[in-house]
Amino acid sequence: MSRASMRARSLPTNPHRILVAKAHELSRKGIKVYDYTAGQPGLPPSREALEYFMDMIKRDPFKHFRYMPTQGLQELRDAIAQDLKKYGGIDVSPSQILVTAGGAEALYLSALSLLNEGDSVLLLDPSYSVYWDLAKILGLRIETCVQSFETGFNPDPECIKEKLGARAKAIIFASPDNPSSRIISEEAAKTIVEVARERKAWVIYDVAYKHIIFEGEHVWIERYDPSLENTIVCGSFSKDLAIPGGRLGYIYGPRDIVPELVKLKGVLGIVAPVPMQWLAYYYLAMGFKEKYLAEVLPVYRKRREAAYEGFKQLVPEARLHKPTAGMYLFPDMTTYISKMELSDVELALKLAESKGVVMLPGSIFGEAGKNHLRITFVTMKENELLEGFKLLREFLEENKAL
Ligand SMILES: Cc1ncc(COP(=O)(O)O)c(C=O)c1O
Repeated sequence: MSRASMRARSLPTNPHRILVAKAHELSRKGIKVYDYTAGQPGLPPSREALEYFMDMIKRDPFKHFRYMPTQGLQELRDAIAQDLKKYGGIDVSPSQILVTAGGAEALYLSALSLLNEGDSVLLLDPSYSVYWDLAKILGLRIETCVQSFETGFNPDPECIKEKLGARAKAIIFASPDNPSSRIISEEAAKTIVEVARERKAWVIYDVAYKHIIFEGEHVWIERYDPSLENTIVCGSFSKDLAIPGGRLGYIYGPRDIVPELVKLKGVLGIVAPVPMQWLAYYYLAMGFKEKYLAEVLPVYRKRREAAYEGFKQLVPEARLHKPTAGMYLFPDMTTYISKMELSDVELALKLAESKGVVMLPGSIFGEAGKNHLRITFVTMKENELLEGFKLLREFLEENKAL
């Protein structure tokens, strides 16, 4: 019998962790590994921003490594507010912004500050695995609305109307999405905000990928709730500033909730990583962001093109949308999986074991993700992306599925 708390035990070991460990193990054995698992940016952070940052650290190390007020560096919160105005036309006061240790902590703090044990939360299925896990840790009940391949992974507005505010006190969702990479439709976004307003429910909106867009535009749901009455937005510097290991994100939300978030953040780690706060400030304030995005997005776009076309050609019976945003292909592998009589988790494990190709099983993102694979397309160069897909094809052939 485990001596750990019920809360800790309520979380099963996620196959994601098993697969990442498998990738490391194979690579230690000297096997060439094609790792498609992590939402890891494909290029390092802006060189100019890093050089500036290091120069500033050398000039005044004390300033860059000291404790800071929990809410975060004033200069950074001012810069985030200006950035929101610039890119989204959104008016948010720096006093409504809290800097966090990554978007993941922003999500956790949001749920912790708004929901009580036993409350229900509405999740879209499939969606980011952390939402499911944080609901479990916080003792929340889960309601779902399916996002299907047929609707381009958009939730059905009727399901939102049925559940949000009636059966669930809050919704947590992302756009662009993980794992499906879809941008939410304006119709669905508007429905979510309107229903939440009418029924005094909460909207927790995750925008970790808001700058990784190839077609269309980011949906700023704040425009439907400009005073942020019922809306909390969780952002991240992991994807566009490309510092996932730096652990930096932010929240902005209702004026009466922000002090609660700050209080909770004070307990959870005191303050977000201070050197990274300065780096993010230099990135936003010195114009490095615009230049960096202009460099990175064309590279990701080429990789997306190669990944999508290559996958379609090599694995032709998978159902697949071309991602308009984000970092992932999310093919439905049902045709192959049913011939092999495997679950998607078994497929992912066997594929890793026999070919060194590591992809995530869709079921870790919810019941509706079953039989899918999540494949990061931004991390590898085009030829390497395709080499791994060829090995996947070989695996399917060897198992008489293709
Ligand atoms: C949808 C989504 N939200 C939030 C995050 C968390 O990002 P981080 O905690 O690295 O800022 C991720 C990470 O991959 C994600 O995919």
